[in-house]
Amino acid sequence: MVNLIPAPLRAEYPTGAAGFVLDQDTVVDAPAGTEAIACLLRAGVGAATGLPLAPGGDGSGHVIRLRLDPGAVDGLGSEGYLLAVDADAVTLRAAAPAGLHWGIQTLRQLLGPDAHRSAPVDPDRIWTVPSCTIEDRPRFGWRGLMLDVARHFMPKTDVLRQLDLLAAHKLNVFHFHLTDDQGWRVEIKRYPRLTEVGSWRSRTKYGHRASELWDETPHGGYYTQDDIREIVAYAAARHIRVVPEIDIPGHSQAAISAYPELGNADVVDTTALSVWDSWGVTPNVLAPTDRVLRFYEGVFEELLGLFPAATSPFVHIGGDECPKDQWKQSPTAQARIRELGLADEDELQSWFIRHFDGWLTARGRRLIGWDEILEGGLAEGAAVSSWRGYAGGIAAAEAGHDVVMCPEQQVYLDHRQDGGPDEPMPIGYVRSLEDVYRFEPVPPGLTEEAAGHVLGTQANVWTEVMQNRARVDYQVFPRLAAFAEVAWSALPASADRDFAGFEQRMATHYARLDALGVDYRPPGGPLPWQRRPGILGRPIEGAPPHG
Ligand code: ACM
Repeated sequence: MVNLIPAPLRAEYPTGAAGFVLDQDTVVDAPAGTEAIACLLRAGVGAATGLPLAPGGDGSGHVIRLRLDPGAVDGLGSEGYLLAVDADAVTLRAAAPAGLHWGIQTLRQLLGPDAHRSAPVDPDRIWTVPSCTIEDRPRFGWRGLMLDVARHFMPKTDVLRQLDLLAAHKLNVFHFHLTDDQGWRVEIKRYPRLTEVGSWRSRTKYGHRASELWDETPHGGYYTQDDIREIVAYAAARHIRVVPEIDIPGHSQAAISAYPELGNADVVDTTALSVWDSWGVTPNVLAPTDRVLRFYEGVFEELLGLFPAATSPFVHIGGDECPKDQWKQSPTAQARIRELGLADEDELQSWFIRHFDGWLTARGRRLIGWDEILEGGLAEGAAVSSWRGYAGGIAAAEAGHDVVMCPEQQVYLDHRQDGGPDEPMPIGYVRSLEDVYRFEPVPPGLTEEAAGHVLGTQANVWTEVMQNRARVDYQVFPRLAAFAEVAWSALPASADRDFAGFEQRMATHYARLDALGVDYRPPGGPLPWQRRPGILGRPIEGAPPHG
């Protein structure tokens, strides 16, 4: 059984038909516009099989044909594809390179788990693609993963690997959470202290904030501007858009510790602040001054240069969890409220966000922020990442704003996957593989028009208790496979989804993840070295099963 994940729209496997054998003579017929896809095919399937997959024309008996053919794939959109396999040829058709790219992921799965390795393990292996016809297209145009590289830095090579894993699951948005209280991770040339000071902390709380343990090793790291360009280009080649996030006006203590004038210096001694070494929400937020606006315009100017409009039409400005206590106490903030004729501090936050909405819009980009940006009035044209349940997303969609659904109750992958005592540093709700599989991104009861504003969905990975790549792998997988199917496949309503069938297909998918070297959570629970006995988490008991 081929057990594709995510499940395609339609697949037929004629019984008794000979499959296509991939061998030394197999050539790739890649006309103009498809060469980059042929390169990726060689880099992936070519490396795993050790076969040259040389360029070649039609007419050979062993050909993989890549075709940009919008007429033949009518109705499948720019990401859909048609894959036809018989004994003579593999023919992959799509309206655009993205569709070919997703079709190649399917082809790789059809070859078997070992096609996901980096080099061949058996020189005598005969590689066969079963005879089939597959018609496929995604349900949503926004199928994302947010990775928090601020709480724990993820080295560049691990980010590139993460992009490969997204591509293997047909996910097409990488939301790159680059700044927070605990670290600033992107080089900004005009403000060198953001990384000199803001990119590292001297120690780190080990476990949840109530834990008494500390890791006394300095923690840090950042991406140079060339690293970012490399990541963006690598993602683009895999048809993944990158959404950079610079969090304002909350979650900014790393920036304030680098440049104390960014904080509410009339309320606290901001020169005494350092990059935060613990978890939660700090009261230390940006001051609502012109100086701060100009500073962040400078940051965003460099950011727009690093993340081109073609692949990063959206820029995320955070906007979540901004405590208003300092603004309430600050004479400067209160004077600003009076001067602008605002009702309160919520409106001051809204003013902050609107400023950058106008600024980004004038530069051809679209602002997206966490659902708190709805408070005090949402800027026109802005889009919302709905994380506090469905409510923010519903309100935004009904008001005509585009929405990405990522409710914490369902798709926060930092939350534990099982209620048992062995989960490492257990956080939040129990959200099992089945819970994620039954997640429905479009809130029930939305009008058709409002539902049209749901761009799609993303899973979010906050890394407070994920100190390294292996911990991230454990939290993300296997649940990202279920999430990918939710985002891509035309599944029935939650209750009618065939989770047993999905689990059966997962048996094959675990072998793919093994071949890819993913440290997933095994179905039977964590392996001994995946446990973290004695490290305090923050389980939330009795939470409703689906938010
Ligand atoms: C968030 O989880 N604070 C967006």
